[in-house]
Amino acid sequence: MASAHQRALDLHRARYGTTPTRVASAPGRVNLIGEHTDYNDGHVLPLALPMRTVITVEPTDGPVTLVSEAFGETSFDPSTPASTSTGWARYVHGAVELARREGYEVLPWRGVVTTDVPVGASLSSSAALEMAALLAACPAGGAPPPASLARLGQRVENEVIGLGTGIMDQLVSAAAIDGAALLIDCRSLDTRPVPLPAGVSVVVVDTGTRRELETSAYDERRADCAEAARLLGVDALRDAAPDDWRRLDGRVAMRARHVLGEQVRVAGAVEAMIVGDVATLGRLMNESHDSLRDDYEVSSPALDAMVRATRDLPGCLGARMTGGGFAGCIVALVADAAVAGFSRELVATYREPAEQPSTEPIAVMAVRPSPGAYVESVD
Ligand code: GLA
Repeated sequence: MASAHQRALDLHRARYGTTPTRVASAPGRVNLIGEHTDYNDGHVLPLALPMRTVITVEPTDGPVTLVSEAFGETSFDPSTPASTSTGWARYVHGAVELARREGYEVLPWRGVVTTDVPVGASLSSSAALEMAALLAACPAGGAPPPASLARLGQRVENEVIGLGTGIMDQLVSAAAIDGAALLIDCRSLDTRPVPLPAGVSVVVVDTGTRRELETSAYDERRADCAEAARLLGVDALRDAAPDDWRRLDGRVAMRARHVLGEQVRVAGAVEAMIVGDVATLGRLMNESHDSLRDDYEVSSPALDAMVRATRDLPGCLGARMTGGGFAGCIVALVADAAVAGFSRELVATYREPAEQPSTEPIAVMAVRPSPGAYVESVD
């Protein structure tokens, strides 16, 4: 199939009979390690996927008009509140509304939306849509810098969609560097590229299970972490010592043990990547999964089954669930030479658990760390 970029140009011509002046695009992401640490002001280590969401831009005087390749058409006046839009359009409308409210110039346009990011698969399709929408809405050269772009996108989730998500997905989609994972300090929003070690590939495996981001479970985890921080007398769990979870009890202690342990694992993963110690990187990914499953309780039967299946295969150095949890994708670290066999055998041997059958095809994707959001003029 042609790329989302090519399909967007073709669809724009077919729909409007014209060529757009600009094309904005932003990637989905996979998180290598550092899960459920972003809203604890901690560190995360995601990378941008080669799959992108693309929005074409042709300035108009009228309302914003967009045709999505897969999800229908929308039209809205940029001066109206985003609550008047529904579904995917609300993300675009929300981005426009918040950018305007923050004083950025926003110009109406007509265009199309295409994406190669699987929707609802924990690969941040919504962050990709928000970042592309912000770049499309602002005039050339007038878009906010990446950290501000990411904050606006996070506010779309928090204030318009009503999900209490952190900053990871938007910031990696906005600021990723080609060829490297991005270490993000979720308090300062400082970012640092960390190249992948030679000889290994990042492989994303879609279990084909789908679930909306589990709002209530996500909010409960956030509340448990806030409670842990309060009991420990720190602003956020990021400020606690690795062993401080021992001063807590029950469920809150388990949540804190995950977050504090994950902080240590992210630091260890960065060190391992710098010195090319892929065995340690893989082991830390395994430990991250086990902690998310047992202490943080955000894994699922399908994610656990897929992780188990990958770990048995030759050349697999480590694997874990990625993103918020409960469904969607896992991420594995696989020796380059073993990737083809890994994909073949995994598809042949994986048995979906009866408790959580797949609704979409299982997919195995070796992914190269890719650049973040950008907008280009069309000649
Ligand atoms: C979702 C949220 C992120 C982050 C992850 C878990 O993807 O959008 O902000 O909290 O879950 O690491």
